[in-house]
Amino acid sequence: SAMQHIRNFSIIAHIDHGKSTLADRIIHLCGGLSDREMEEQVLDSMDIERERGITIKAQTAALRYKARDGQVYNLNLIDTPGHVDFSYEVSRSLSACEGALLVVDASQGVEAQTVANCYTAIDLGVEVVPVLNKIDLPSAAPETAKQEIEDVIGIDASEAILASAKTGVGVEDIIEAIIERIPAPQGNPEAPLKALVIDSWFDNYVGVVMLVRVVDGALRPKDKIRLMATNASYLCEQVGVFTPKALQRDVLSAGEVGYIISGIKELQAAQVGDTVTLIEKPATEPLPGFKEIKSQVFAGLYPVESNQYDSLRESLEKLKLNDASLHYEPEVSQALGFGFRCGFLGLLHMEIVQERLEREFDQDLITTAPTVIYEVVMRDGTIVPVENPAKLPEQTKVEEIREPIITITVFVPQEYLGNVITLCNQKRGNQVDMTYHGRQVQLVYEMPMAEVVMDFFDKLKSVSRGYASLDYEFKEFRAADVVKLDVLINGDKVDALSMIVHRANSVYRGRELASKMRQLIPRQMYDVAIQAAIGSNIIARENVKAMRKDVLAKCYGGDITRKKKLLEKQKAGKKRMKQVGTVEIPQEAFLAVLRIG
Ligand code: GTP
Repeated sequence: SAMQHIRNFSIIAHIDHGKSTLADRIIHLCGGLSDREMEEQVLDSMDIERERGITIKAQTAALRYKARDGQVYNLNLIDTPGHVDFSYEVSRSLSACEGALLVVDASQGVEAQTVANCYTAIDLGVEVVPVLNKIDLPSAAPETAKQEIEDVIGIDASEAILASAKTGVGVEDIIEAIIERIPAPQGNPEAPLKALVIDSWFDNYVGVVMLVRVVDGALRPKDKIRLMATNASYLCEQVGVFTPKALQRDVLSAGEVGYIISGIKELQAAQVGDTVTLIEKPATEPLPGFKEIKSQVFAGLYPVESNQYDSLRESLEKLKLNDASLHYEPEVSQALGFGFRCGFLGLLHMEIVQERLEREFDQDLITTAPTVIYEVVMRDGTIVPVENPAKLPEQTKVEEIREPIITITVFVPQEYLGNVITLCNQKRGNQVDMTYHGRQVQLVYEMPMAEVVMDFFDKLKSVSRGYASLDYEFKEFRAADVVKLDVLINGDKVDALSMIVHRANSVYRGRELASKMRQLIPRQMYDVAIQAAIGSNIIARENVKAMRKDVLAKCYGGDITRKKKLLEKQKAGKKRMKQVGTVEIPQEAFLAVLRIG
């Protein structure tokens, strides 16, 4: 049957091990791309992704390949993102596949996300095909890498394929292995339609596009469909596949991966994880969906100019159409006015959202310091989630504050082990496990998530010269001795600058924060007093001296271009300033907390 000739697969890898390069090679070999298109990495389609070199949104390519056995196969490559923030998207993509290529950089060996992603694949029952990439590098050590795959992950790597996505060596072998080792999809094309929504996004021309894996049955244009979770029905207008370009088809059948366009206007109606069925001949049970993704990191986003609030709201609405993992709700800050509290998957996700709002939607934003979510147990027994430090209830009403604890796994070469352990201890980590795997050491710690969202990742990279890798997962909420640290500017508490810190290092943090802010707040017409306080207790004071009156006067009469430049510079700088009372506070000052140990 046709299904015998289908292979659905993903590529999983640690960041930078060559996933996108290999994907492009495979697409190229299957004739999906011209040489010129090959120059650009097509699967990473968003601008920001290209610049940062990371894959954010899962994409697919339906490919045709004539194998050595003379038969033509339909290969569906479903791309997965490589960064720790987006690991839930990896499991989404994998659940549409029967197999996955596990790409390991032969000069680096196994890293934290190699392991995390591979376990996700194994848990989902996906066949894993190990590939050792970058064998063109002089430093490649494929035998060592194989050993690491066996020791650390515990899967057989004896048949691992040696390849170079850069030169193309081994890529054909990889495709043959996909055909030989990955099972064809199973499913019944005659049964009632069951198609799993793997992804959905909003397109300005056609409305919502759903990427689906058809498990049973078949779907054609003009069929009446129903989404089983929402129970809403639509007319199927178009089905097709991505090659990676969109290509219309007459039918999508069991085993296939493709898109559906059906006049859906709102993304909420096409939830990822939902099951599409036919109204005429409906499935009785939906497919198991995906667990809901929860925001891990929260921050306030405010327009620099308060009259831009509506525009920011519209931009967020639009952005959310393409990024279902972004959450936001209106929030009012005394200091910053009207804005939004947004929930993100992690710090990187937050940066990407911020950047897209600024670049694609032309918004000028002030972002407050990121925070995790706390569980506050009140004296009356109720539990209140707090995702904004300014909203921490009054101490006298609080029984206990619980903070999120995560389990982190770090892979680090032995020579940096000491540094990493010191760092983990500084971040209040508890060692759970330490295992030696040849040159690498695998460390497992439990750690407060608040410590990790701040700057742990950057610090880890710097103490290990970039060699350590990190993966983490949520463990539990645990009681913690934390307090609210407030910042007062000229005597007024600025709610947007409040943060929750551990009592043990609250005084240190308060002092550091005040001193950092002194450096970041530019001189103004009057002295600016910065204070850090816990409750009514002032723990630090700093002063920004008033500007000398003659800064501009110096230029008068003299060089006019120089004066213009100075004014322009001030104007440009102003974009990222927020007027709080009588003081102008720059964006960096709101994030000063990220810069202190
Ligand atoms: P993310 O998209 O960030 O997850 O990374 P990735 O795993 O897709 O890695 P990518 O394909 O972007 O490759 C990372 C870097 O390694 C790029 O600079 C590639 O040019 C390079 N690279 C990929 N494959 C090879 C290879 O076989 N040999 C060599 N020498 N370099 C390679």
